[in-house]
Amino acid sequence: MASSKTSSAAMAALVAAIFLAAVLPCRASSLATVDEPAKYNKPSTAPAPSPPPPVQPVIVVQGVIYCKSCRLRGYNSGMDASPLPNATASLVCYGDEESKYRVLNQTSTATDKNGYFLVMVYDVDMFDRHSCRLYLRSSPTRLCAKPFIPSNAKLGLTLVRDQSTTVLPRGARGVFHAKTALMYAPATAGKCPPY
Ligand SMILES: *[C@@H]1O[C@H](CO)[C@@H](O)[C@H](O)[C@H]1NC(C)=O
Ligand SMILES: *[C@@H]1O[C@H](CO)[C@@H](O)[C@H](O)[C@H]1NC(C)=O
Repeated sequence: MASSKTSSAAMAALVAAIFLAAVLPCRASSLATVDEPAKYNKPSTAPAPSPPPPVQPVIVVQGVIYCKSCRLRGYNSGMDASPLPNATASLVCYGDEESKYRVLNQTSTATDKNGYFLVMVYDVDMFDRHSCRLYLRSSPTRLCAKPFIPSNAKLGLTLVRDQSTTVLPRGARGVFHAKTALMYAPATAGKCPPY
C-alpha cells in the first residue's frame, strides 16, 4: 500500500516535472518572441527617414499667343493665325476684402515656338478664377504688336479650368487657361514679321 502511495507520489512528481519541462521551454520561447519585437524596434532609435520636402502649392495658368493673319511658322489656317514666339502675357488678379484688395500682376514666360506660355502662381490665396484675367503684355516685333484678342487693353480674357490635364505637377492646385488664344495683329494688313 505504502509503495503504491510512494509510486503515486513519484508519479505525481514526474508528471509535475514533465509539466514544468513542457512549460518552461514554452515560456522561454514566448519570452523570446516578446523580446524580438524589441530588437526590431531598435532601428527606430536610428535617424528617422527625412520627411519629404514640403511641396509649395501652385496654380498654373497657361495659354498661347498668336499673330493674326500672318503666315508664319506653324500657321493655322482655321484660325488664320500663327504662333508668336517670344511674346508675353500678364496675369492680373484682383484680391477681395480678405486679400486686402491686393493686386497680383505677374508676367508669363516668353512664348515658345508654338506660342505657348505659362504663369506659375505661388501666391495661391490671390488666385480666384473669377477675379483673374489674362492680358497681352509684350510682342517681340513691332510688325505684329497691335492688340487683337483682347483688342481692348482694359478687357482681359477670363479663365477656365483645364479639364484635359489629368496628371497635375506636384503641388499644383489647378491648371487654368484662357478661353481663347491671345492674339496680336500687324498694324498694317499684310506687313508681317519675316519669320
Ligand atoms: C526669341 O528670343 C531668343 C532669345 O532672346 C532669340 O534667340 C530668338 O531668335 C527669338 N525668336 C524670335 C522668333 O524672335
Ligand atoms: C501689370 O504690369 C504691367 C507691367 O508693369 C503693366 O503694364 C500693367 O498696367 C499692369 N496691370 C495692372 C492691372 O496693374
